[in-house]
Amino acid sequence: MSIHLADVLYLMIASPPIMKIETIAIHAGNKIDNSNKAVIQPITLSTTFERGPEGNYPGGYIYTRADNPNRSSLEQVLYQLEGGADACAFSSGNAAGGCVFQALEPGSHIIAPADMYHGLRNQINEVFRGIHEVTYVNMTDIGAVEKAVKQTTKLMWLETPSNPLLKISDIKALVEIAKRNNIIVACDNTFATPLFQRPLELGCDIVMHSTTKYLGGHSDVLGGALITREKNDFWQRIRSIQELSGAVPSPLDCFLTVRGIKTFPYRMKAHAANAQKIAEYLDQHPKVEKVYYPGLASHPQHQIVLEQMHGTGGMLSFLVKGGINEALKVANNVKIFTQATSLGGVESLLEHRASIEGPETKTPQNLLRVSVGIENAEDLIEDLEYALSR
Ligand SMILES: Cc1ncc(COP(=O)(O)O)c(C=O)c1O
Repeated sequence: MSIHLADVLYLMIASPPIMKIETIAIHAGNKIDNSNKAVIQPITLSTTFERGPEGNYPGGYIYTRADNPNRSSLEQVLYQLEGGADACAFSSGNAAGGCVFQALEPGSHIIAPADMYHGLRNQINEVFRGIHEVTYVNMTDIGAVEKAVKQTTKLMWLETPSNPLLKISDIKALVEIAKRNNIIVACDNTFATPLFQRPLELGCDIVMHSTTKYLGGHSDVLGGALITREKNDFWQRIRSIQELSGAVPSPLDCFLTVRGIKTFPYRMKAHAANAQKIAEYLDQHPKVEKVYYPGLASHPQHQIVLEQMHGTGGMLSFLVKGGINEALKVANNVKIFTQATSLGGVESLLEHRASIEGPETKTPQNLLRVSVGIENAEDLIEDLEYALSR
């Protein structure tokens, strides 16, 4: 087939410009409604769609578990944000992660971080007990990861920065081990977000999100997502599990997440700026033993942060000098921070992490995890100053 100059010129004129992330966030998930030209896409609650005379579906949709206009919009914006080829939206981050484990053949071996998000770790341990095998490894130790690889290893799970110790794994180095051994790499990019870290560009196959966090951004809608670099057989399996298992978000959930995503790049910049100021403030406080934040030069993987990330995010943890009682005293005395779990909302949250992770936890008992919101940083620092002085 020959391509004529006229065709090339047509394509150049007809192709939309390549958009930057702030523009993608606003436009990629929105469709102007054809019937009344509403600028913001309506919420399509209908679970079923009219069939045409030839048994076709002229609207492009059949049944909402399989697909829905609001879900397609959310999936459109998600894959474009991550620079992927396609996305699947789920009813929670855990449902998204679980879909990857379901897509593996039974008997698969998984390499996962020793400090993996505890909800997904518990899912592997309990729901996939007897189905898959897992080895938990310190992902900052490349040699240990290499040693953990077996003949049956099919999946390497990354979570960087990790939760709650904000450890940074070297994505490129880990992908290199995985590719040599034919292992699929999935990266939980919930903490960093596509603004600050681009796992697919670093060679990962799949990105996972709890959209409940920064993408939704307002602590009012639960959701999860998977985004793929390539539409391959593994991805077809994920798409079919999404439809057949049915852990899909409702049209309203999709609408709210698309709405939240529009402001996400600007919120993220404010989260990171505030977190940097708070980390520096805590780092010099006499009652603080240690601060975990990738933006501090003292962070053990700071060099990888500089090479791999474009910003250091809104999450930090710190150890209060003394022990659990001193840490709980600080948590009980904050006024602007809310003592609650979760992260990524505009409001600042603070929690005693070991309590939520349960008796098996390896998290230090004097650790407080902070989701830094986008309030005025001076107010937040004043609040911490008050709580640390009690
Ligand atoms: C890093 C990370 N991954 C996954 C999840 C699970 O997401 P969800 O609560 O939306 O199921 C969470 C939730 O806190 C998380 O922090």
